[in-house]
Amino acid sequence: MMKIVNTIDEVRRQVREWRKEGLTVGLVPTMGYLHEGHASLIDASHRDNDRTVVSDFVNPMQFGPSEDLESYPRDIEHDAALVEAHGGDLIFHPEPSEMYHDGFSSFVDMTVLTEELCGLSRPVHFRGVCTVVSKLFNIVQPDRAYFGKKDAQQLAVIRHMVDDLNINIQIIGCPIIREADGLAKSSRNTYLNSQERQAALVLSQSIFLGEDMVRKGETNCDAIISAMTAKIKSEALAEIDYVKIVDCKTMQQIKQLDRPALCAMAVYIGKTRLIDNFFTEDI
Ligand code: PAJ
Repeated sequence: MMKIVNTIDEVRRQVREWRKEGLTVGLVPTMGYLHEGHASLIDASHRDNDRTVVSDFVNPMQFGPSEDLESYPRDIEHDAALVEAHGGDLIFHPEPSEMYHDGFSSFVDMTVLTEELCGLSRPVHFRGVCTVVSKLFNIVQPDRAYFGKKDAQQLAVIRHMVDDLNINIQIIGCPIIREADGLAKSSRNTYLNSQERQAALVLSQSIFLGEDMVRKGETNCDAIISAMTAKIKSEALAEIDYVKIVDCKTMQQIKQLDRPALCAMAVYIGKTRLIDNFFTEDI
């Protein structure tokens, strides 16, 4: 039976019992309002591990002051049904006060990789992500943890953190799950009205265009970015935050596709900021 717990103690007690039985544990960190993208991570964990913990916590620390912390969608009942249907065993659903007690003052921060892409437009974001994910790693102490390539910079940052800090957890990256028409699934898609939902297709369309150019042998990053940018600009409701190609380990911009790279974008559709990307090795 799937269980929902709200305290760190309850998670620790449950994991300790599983460990006594010699069971392996996978962790899927989420902010809830779960969809098939999250479900694919739970499926992967369920395949690889005896038990799967899903954390469901809208982490205030990773939101900037003018971002959507208050309006971020929440639905724990729906989440519980989805986790159970995909073979998850435990949901950790803490209050912010359980994760951040009075006087909380320690942070996990990272340079270089966080200085490009989303790190530029969201200056406190990755400090919040690294701090909460470190806490979740310490609370659950899983064998493996699952992250989506949808948040490609986040995946690179977590891999780098685990390596830098000698955290003994295997990080598994999972493919982007899309709607039938191409839009990458995201909890934030619920912010879009029907006109914006249509306009949002310009993200995946330009991703597919870029992928196609790479597949056909284009190696000049400016050429790829120009074509993708032109595609996005053809949509009146779209406002580009960035479209960039970076080295997939360092997240630093490159000019030529002479190594494994990440092509990533953030685009506003109305007030909603959406991201999408492709890795050149995945094509
Ligand atoms: P959240 O946005 O809820 O995403 C949780 C995980 O689901 C992330 O690893 C994300 O990459 C993955 N995911 C989301 N949409 C996906 C899609 N369409 N296809 C595949 N995977 C997808 O990312 C966070 O939460 C937070 O930053 C968190 C890591 C939980 C720390 O608070």
